[in-house]
Amino acid sequence: SAAEKGGYDYFMLKEIAEQPKAVADTLLGRIDEAGRLALDEVRIPDHVLREVNKVVIVACGTAYHAGMIAKYAIEHWTRIPCETELASEFRYRDPILDQRTLVVAISQSGETMDTLMALRHAREQGAKVLAICNTNGSTIPRESDAVLYTHAGPEVAVASTKAFLTQLVACYLVALYLGQVRGTKWGDEIGSVIRELSQISTEVEKVLATMEPVRELARSLADKDTVLFLGRHVGFPVALEGALKLKELAYMHAEGFAAGELKHGPIALIEEDLPVVVVVPSPRGRSVLHDKIVSNIQEIRARGARTIVIAEEGDETVVPYADHLVRIPATPTLLQPLVATVPLQVFACELATARGNEVDQPRNLAKSVTVE
Ligand code: AGP
Repeated sequence: SAAEKGGYDYFMLKEIAEQPKAVADTLLGRIDEAGRLALDEVRIPDHVLREVNKVVIVACGTAYHAGMIAKYAIEHWTRIPCETELASEFRYRDPILDQRTLVVAISQSGETMDTLMALRHAREQGAKVLAICNTNGSTIPRESDAVLYTHAGPEVAVASTKAFLTQLVACYLVALYLGQVRGTKWGDEIGSVIRELSQISTEVEKVLATMEPVRELARSLADKDTVLFLGRHVGFPVALEGALKLKELAYMHAEGFAAGELKHGPIALIEEDLPVVVVVPSPRGRSVLHDKIVSNIQEIRARGARTIVIAEEGDETVVPYADHLVRIPATPTLLQPLVATVPLQVFACELATARGNEVDQPRNLAKSVTVE
């Protein structure tokens, strides 16, 4: 009913709008006054976490994209090798796991069969499993050694939005907590990341307040067949997520690429007026990446692409090459997905609406996939 949708036309719009609160709720009570992580609820003893020598993340769909981003954060902040794998592929390749492997299973519903089978396999091999889940008491957390709940609240729309942002927050918390427990790299950078993370819900709010031009742009592209998405570093999974949202909702051909792969094939797809969304890393910090992606934008634009550039506030270098420019607030590099994904959700939702599709219940899809 309209009341359930809180005055929005679709649950998806309501859930997109709820993201600042969802993110804040997921952080609530988990950072203490001294700026340290307080995750006692994670019932894996510190001495076990100190012994972990490999992290393996398993998940499907949007949760898998959160896991891909987590890999960058975990390896950078903890120096523990981390791999992220599609849950549906995991057990079939006879993965190498033992007591020192920490498996992180990410699932909004907690009922995804592929993810459940992956975690059962991991536990059979002696690995410890930590679930990141949004649904209290669901099967995946029940069968895991420990759980860190995301507090997104119920997500009704089939396309995942607020669950994704809260999965990211939970992944950052796990990464930072592993760093804290192990005492690795616990310096200025980590302290400032935690401070920025506690402010991030305000930044998400700011993005939401500037989405009208994105909606307008989406409507103008309603008759296109294909949209490509490019990103690198943590912007690569963001590109994949933007493409997944568009497939699910707008039933359009959409693909996400690592921008560095362009010249290894995908650049052949570029043609006159093809919309290409590019997620630009911050010019601060890892600026090499920034400069590389700016040349990618130049390359595709020279070949006729219509560039839709998502770039940090104050990044002026992209301006001459952006046919459409979407501004996002400055954040630390690893946290950028929390703000960069939001315009892509809005974009896909509006395109679906413009194409007359059912936003909350896309064809052929189920909210949770309980079969393999
Ligand atoms: C997201 O928009 C999708 N509907 C889908 O990819 C989803 O993220 C995936 O099926 C995993 O679901 P889960 O988080 O409930 O395990």
